[in-house]
Amino acid sequence: MAYNLLKGKRGIIFGALDENSIAWKTAERVHQEGGSFVLTNAPIAMRMGQINKLAEATGSQIIPADATSEADLEALVSQSVEILGGKLDFVLHSIGMSVNVRKGKKYTDENYDWTAKGWDVSALSFHKVMQALYKADAMQEWGSIVALTYMAAQRTFPDYNDMADNKAYLESVARSFGYFFGKEKKVRVNTISQSPTPTTAGQGVKGFDGFISYAEKMSPLGNATAQDCADYTVTLFSDLTRKVTMQNLFHDGGFSNTGVSQEVIEQFTK
Ligand SMILES: NC(=O)c1ccc[n+]([C@@H]2O[C@H](COP(=O)([O-])OP(=O)(O)OC[C@H]3O[C@@H](n4cnc5c(N)ncnc54)[C@H](O)[C@@H]3O)[C@@H](O)[C@H]2O)c1
Repeated sequence: MAYNLLKGKRGIIFGALDENSIAWKTAERVHQEGGSFVLTNAPIAMRMGQINKLAEATGSQIIPADATSEADLEALVSQSVEILGGKLDFVLHSIGMSVNVRKGKKYTDENYDWTAKGWDVSALSFHKVMQALYKADAMQEWGSIVALTYMAAQRTFPDYNDMADNKAYLESVARSFGYFFGKEKKVRVNTISQSPTPTTAGQGVKGFDGFISYAEKMSPLGNATAQDCADYTVTLFSDLTRKVTMQNLFHDGGFSNTGVSQEVIEQFTK
């Protein structure tokens, strides 16, 4: 069902790789709600070509940008404002990658060049995106910026590896930049802490199948899907959440506040 919650609003959506991506589902949902946007992803992800389908379906233009490159981000922001015909109301940062995870390097044996690369892509890029928006004064008053995160920033999930540290940094950047964006431009900045979700990035984590079924059994409402996350993101982009800022918002079916569930107890009861 659509409610026209984003009618006339403009934005940028980072990170739609394929139709499983949280950003892909969000783009479709934002489109249904009347929002218009530019799609962006790393040039290397573009070569896989799938994003063209999404651009066609949502009437969007694509601008490649490496989220670690300040020059790419500056160009993306100025071109987006021009293409969309005005300042931006919403931005979704849906980007994550750890070289250590990809290459199976354990947390206790990190390759620090890889750690630095993963931190730049997954965490510092959020600061870079916001700094590019801030310096260009590209956000409309009462606009909304959202990034995606995971609960490993607060609690240890061993196989999440250095991504846990990246997410902790990302969440801190949301609070710190949220202060300045709020004070000076009336723009809100939040992170959504999403359930495990079967996407390319999610499935890259070792033991993901066990991880996702455990979370499903622990969460009173079950895991939040990518589609659920798209719905939630729309509410944060809408005018109905104008005073929500500098928050890390758990979107996980209740997982984060559940000590143990009956289903999990049963697994250990003979
Ligand atoms: N899938 C999960 O279980 C889960 C859970 C909680 C949070 N998240 C977060 O959700 C976000 C989206 O991930 P997803 O699960 O949809 O997976 P995904 O693999 O579909 O999306 C990750 C995206 O990051 C992009 N990216 C990588 N390097 C980039 C760069 N240098 N510049 C620009 N873009 C770059 C990729 O191309 C891809 O589109 C990530 O921040 C992820 O950590 C995922």
